[in-house]
Amino acid sequence: MRNRARNASIGLLAALVIALTGCGRQTSTRHMVGFSQCNLGEPWRVAMNAEVAARAKDFPGLQIVFADAQQDNAKQVADVENFLRQGVELLMISPNEAKPLTPVVDKVFRAGIPVIVIDRGIEGDSYTVFIGADNYEIGRQAGEHIAQVLGGKGKIVELRGLPGSPPAIDRGRGMRDVVSKYPGIQIVHDPVANWLREEAMTQMEMALAANPAIDLVYAHNDPMAIGAYLAARAKGREKTMKFIGIDALPGLDGGRQAVADGKLDATFVYPTGGKQAVELAAKILAGEKVPHRVVLPTEKITRHSR
Ligand code: FRU
Repeated sequence: MRNRARNASIGLLAALVIALTGCGRQTSTRHMVGFSQCNLGEPWRVAMNAEVAARAKDFPGLQIVFADAQQDNAKQVADVENFLRQGVELLMISPNEAKPLTPVVDKVFRAGIPVIVIDRGIEGDSYTVFIGADNYEIGRQAGEHIAQVLGGKGKIVELRGLPGSPPAIDRGRGMRDVVSKYPGIQIVHDPVANWLREEAMTQMEMALAANPAIDLVYAHNDPMAIGAYLAARAKGREKTMKFIGIDALPGLDGGRQAVADGKLDATFVYPTGGKQAVELAAKILAGEKVPHRVVLPTEKITRHSR
């Protein structure tokens, strides 16, 4: 009786040891990566998360934990703090706005945790690698396209993204640096529409009411360009002006289709960088060196593109 009890407890102990060591081995080979996304209300963000999830399947050593800040800086700070408490080994973040997110990203980086910043930058240099397309260059190319289609003369409405997000600043600056060389081109209205289609519709209604002649709308992303198009169409004015956006997402609701349908005159590819961010995370966690900045390519899409 006593022997049996002893054997049973030895067996139990052995099972416990196996379970514990097995378990220990598993957690030490999987790296927990926190991915803080600034919102999932916009199709481009949904595409980025899908890319991250798809590429992560090829790296079983990575366990990616997702957080959605719902366009709220305070929520995004809390999400990152939460990742810190959970003990993530690497942070991937696409910040809502640069300034409010800088301190928490700096805190993570100073704690010795590698940081990959995607698409929207932060202030300063507290990160391992920034990955994204060159938004100033996209703005510049948009400016060249605008000057070309307007023949150097016309009235423009610019619909701007969230002011504290660097792509909005750079896309505006790049375009203006080009069109300012054409005295015949005037920017007659440049409201903020915060990257959102609905807000762009409202802003465009006001622009239409205030300006009897608009030749072109340059929106900092495709959802805002499509919002402006819909507002113009509601007033029967969509054929009197051209619409330009940025993102060029594939799919039925994407910018590429809007160009094919003749709603947008042009859009510029803005890769999400989701796939490359996962690849960089794997490299960093394997102890490999990565560059401080990875610039993704862009491409102008018009109805003449393949
Ligand atoms: C999505 C988005 C894109 C845009 C990018 C800029 O949140 O607005 O449409 O290209 O962010 O950061």
